Amino acid sequence: PLITSQSLFEKAYEKDYAIGAFNVNNMEIIQGIVDAAKEERSPLILQVSAGARKYANPIYLKKLVEAAVEDSGLPIVLHLDHGESFEICKQCVDDGFTSVMIDASHHTFEENIAITKKVVEYAHAHGVVVEAELGRLAGVEDAVNVSAADATYTDPDQAQEFVEKTGVDALAVAIGTSHGAYKFKGEPNLDFARLKAIAAKIPGTPMVLHGASTVLPEFVKICNQYGGQIPGAQGVPETMIREAARHGVCKVNIDTDLRLAMTAAIRKEFAEDPTNFDPRKYLGPGRDAIREMVKHKIRNVLGSSGLV
Ligand code: G3H
Ligand code: 13P
Ligand code: ZN
Repeated sequence: PLITSQSLFEKAYEKDYAIGAFNVNNMEIIQGIVDAAKEERSPLILQVSAGARKYANPIYLKKLVEAAVEDSGLPIVLHLDHGESFEICKQCVDDGFTSVMIDASHHTFEENIAITKKVVEYAHAHGVVVEAELGRLAGVEDAVNVSAADATYTDPDQAQEFVEKTGVDALAVAIGTSHGAYKFKGEPNLDFARLKAIAAKIPGTPMVLHGASTVLPEFVKICNQYGGQIPGAQGVPETMIREAARHGVCKVNIDTDLRLAMTAAIRKEFAEDPTNFDPRKYLGPGRDAIREMVKHKIRNVLGSSGLV
């Protein structure tokens, strides 16, 4: 069934594992992820960004996710990723999403509270849970400058005030991750002291790690080997994701690793069989690659296998 993340996060928080939240844009991506979760007997969060809604048309994604729920029998959360306004969150609540993110992190602290509170009121009245973000995911340049990093990373005292005033269900924190394939210039580094300090201020509130792809070198290598140009890509080491799960992070957002897996498989297929022009014969390997990536995440990184 389509469920909210509430009971999933309660258990994950207690037992120090995390639930994967994977971005979906089309049928093959959804099938690859769901097949992996089915094989691993893991609950799952499928998340849809504004870009995904624009690309695929919201109704197609909704119906594909419904098909996945019906076909797999798994408990699945349908989540809006980075909703930028009350209106888009309301739209998704009305469309049957079970979870929405309001990302008002670019507004002032007070405005972020006000917008988030409004979303929480509407969503909760409809049985939907809400994730919000406090602090901004640092860019590579921001992280170099300590005072700039301090300004964008999540402040523990503000986190406490934010959660108290908004009643939000989960909080996305900024501790040094960023979106995409270029997260660190030198050694990867996350501010775990800060994560622990935030966790201590908001005990029981599940936290969310955005920008949590690992950018596995073997997939970057395959892309580059078959004509891609993704030099210097680097993500969050798997050990750090596991460490985050031990300190209150219950939701781990992964998109880039799926993109890399699918693209590596398709590039390889094209290179090895230039006569192939049947989309099923390259999207199929792309789907297989996503399935294997998600199985690896669930089993070896997130620790959510065998729960359903
Ligand atoms: O938060 C970013 C996710 O990777 C979604 O990316 O906005 O290109 O769909 P997108
Ligand atoms: P990655 O780019 O690291 O996969 O992060 C995805 C994300 O945070 C989606 O909200
Ligand atoms: Zn994100």
